[in-house]
Amino acid sequence: MSKLIIANWKMNPSTVSQAVKLARAEDKKGVVIAPPFPFLPLVSKVLRKAKLGAQDAFWVPKGAYTGEVSIHQLKTLRVKYVIIGHSERRGLGETDWLINKKIRAALAEDLTVILCVGEPWRVRRKGLAAAKRFVKQQLQKDLKGTDKLTKLKAESLITAYEPVWAIGTGHADRPEGAVEMIKFIKKNLQSKTYNLKSRVLYGGSVTGRNAAGFLKQKEIGGALVGGASLKPSEFKRIIRSL
Ligand code: 13P
Repeated sequence: MSKLIIANWKMNPSTVSQAVKLARAEDKKGVVIAPPFPFLPLVSKVLRKAKLGAQDAFWVPKGAYTGEVSIHQLKTLRVKYVIIGHSERRGLGETDWLINKKIRAALAEDLTVILCVGEPWRVRRKGLAAAKRFVKQQLQKDLKGTDKLTKLKAESLITAYEPVWAIGTGHADRPEGAVEMIKFIKKNLQSKTYNLKSRVLYGGSVTGRNAAGFLKQKEIGGALVGGASLKPSEFKRIIRSL
């Protein structure tokens, strides 16, 4: 399976012209670009090789939900992927219940879900076993009931292991540490309930310098990149390390 590099631009860049420029620079095969909502229409027009992702989606198809964006609306812009459960959204109060609703709706509408899981430092400092328990609970709550969906296929669910303490800190996990957790996540996804042999990515301070260390591991299906995806030269280095 070839590796996937996902650029999560978060709430960047500042202007649409900067977004278009960045999208052109990162338009490569095997890349998914997830810009902020306002830039989706123009970035969608620019991309030839890369696929388009959204950073979130609401589960109800339409109606009085101020500030929300529906999956159907995203699909009209050729969005194929949606990030759900990012720790930055969980930090703003998004619960596993909400995440589960969004995942189920996105899968039902044939979007590929990128589910983010990962433990905060207060858990990790108690050791890897505690971190595994935390991640297992997230998986159980976030994926509850998805095994009943006829549309659940291995390709439609990507999981990203993003330890919260590694996000935006410059302190990435060690590749061996990421592999250990990713193997654990895969074991859970392959359990009788889900029976899914799906892709698991690593995210958290991935840079041009450290990307190869993660991407050469056969268990790691790619990278979810934040800060480094805003710098074309850095992002190119990550792609070159594939
Ligand atoms: P950084 O690469 O900036 O650490 O962000 C990772 C991330 O949150 C991607 O979703």
